[in-house]
Amino acid sequence: MASLLEVSDLTVNYNSRGSQLKALNSVTLSVKSEEFLAVVGESGCGKTTLGLSIIGLLPPGSAWFSSGSIAYKGVDLASLRPKEMRNYRGSEIAMIFQEPLTSLNPLRTVGFQLVEAIKLRKSRRHKADVEAGARSRPLPGRPSMPSFGRARIPDDVAEEVEAMLSLVRIADAKDVVSRYPFELSGGMRQRAMIAMALAQQPALLIADEPTTALDVTTQAQVLKLMKEIKDKLGTTIILVTHDLAVASQVADRVIVMYAGRIVEDAGVFELFSKPLHPYTQGLLSCIPKGDRKGSELSPIPGSLPDLRFDVNACRFQPRCKYAMKVCSERVPPLFEVDEGHKVACFLHGE
Ligand SMILES: Nc1ncnc2c1ncn2[C@@H]1O[C@H](COP(=O)(O)OP(=O)(O)OP(=O)(O)O)[C@@H](O)[C@H]1O
Ligand SMILES: [Mg+2]
Repeated sequence: MASLLEVSDLTVNYNSRGSQLKALNSVTLSVKSEEFLAVVGESGCGKTTLGLSIIGLLPPGSAWFSSGSIAYKGVDLASLRPKEMRNYRGSEIAMIFQEPLTSLNPLRTVGFQLVEAIKLRKSRRHKADVEAGARSRPLPGRPSMPSFGRARIPDDVAEEVEAMLSLVRIADAKDVVSRYPFELSGGMRQRAMIAMALAQQPALLIADEPTTALDVTTQAQVLKLMKEIKDKLGTTIILVTHDLAVASQVADRVIVMYAGRIVEDAGVFELFSKPLHPYTQGLLSCIPKGDRKGSELSPIPGSLPDLRFDVNACRFQPRCKYAMKVCSERVPPLFEVDEGHKVACFLHGE
């Protein structure tokens, strides 16, 4: 599989109440085409910042890249102007957020918003096809036709709306398209949001905690759905979650972040069977085990460091029971200990 995205040495700063903080610190990762990558870590470790950096939606004025590149299909997104970035957002890279109400338009029906997303993609594709003489990717379609709203909707668009909704397991498309976002349940809203993102047929989908607000059953359904979508449409997915159990259910590979840095990067089986970083081991011991009733959970003692102060040391060292002298003297680089298994810890390198 070829690499779709290469993030190299990416450092992102925020202006925060008069001071600066490094939300991402020399982050390097690559995502292969059609891979399902999970990015995990505690609140504030920089997961959302990573997603926003890739899709070019960091708050202008208060956030900036101080180093690094984000190569997507060989183009450095970090150096594009906002206008150029618009050619990638939606059509190539889409992002879904934890609370869909913040990204769905409350004043428009689900159907209207889906139609707009599809029309936008079609006009973009048409323009690109004319320019490049290329053919667009076909969508999985169904022959039946929904009718909703008063506006005249082209048949092919109406067909696609229904196909998208059926893809995200919304059976009653005719009913759902005429509803406003606030009229849907949390799970339905999240599905509508996924449909909206997929309507643009992105090659890369970044899903930021898409299931956190949902109950366990709906969460499992939405995760299963995302996996199916990846298999059916060949969409590459980056799933951001603070929950390792969620990552274990769907991801091919997991990246563990701590205080703006990547501390471990491994295949999902490898990470769960042989976690190497003491932080990953700590996170794993926090997962409740259904088969061991009454077993004690052991949260990692200590708290996240203050990102306003950059230190030339391992960030996890104050919380680490294995800390050595070298850990407070230098930042551990990512050591590749096995093929495809990297860890930023002096217990495993030098
Ligand atoms: N717009 C902003 N201005 C200033 N600081 C910010 C901004 N957004 C995020 N930060 C800070 O950057 C750091 C990383 O935040 P980020 O939202 O990326 O973390 P996260 O891993 O997504 O956390 P969570 O799991 O809570 O969503 C945090 O210290 C946060 O307070
Ligand atoms: Mg976040």
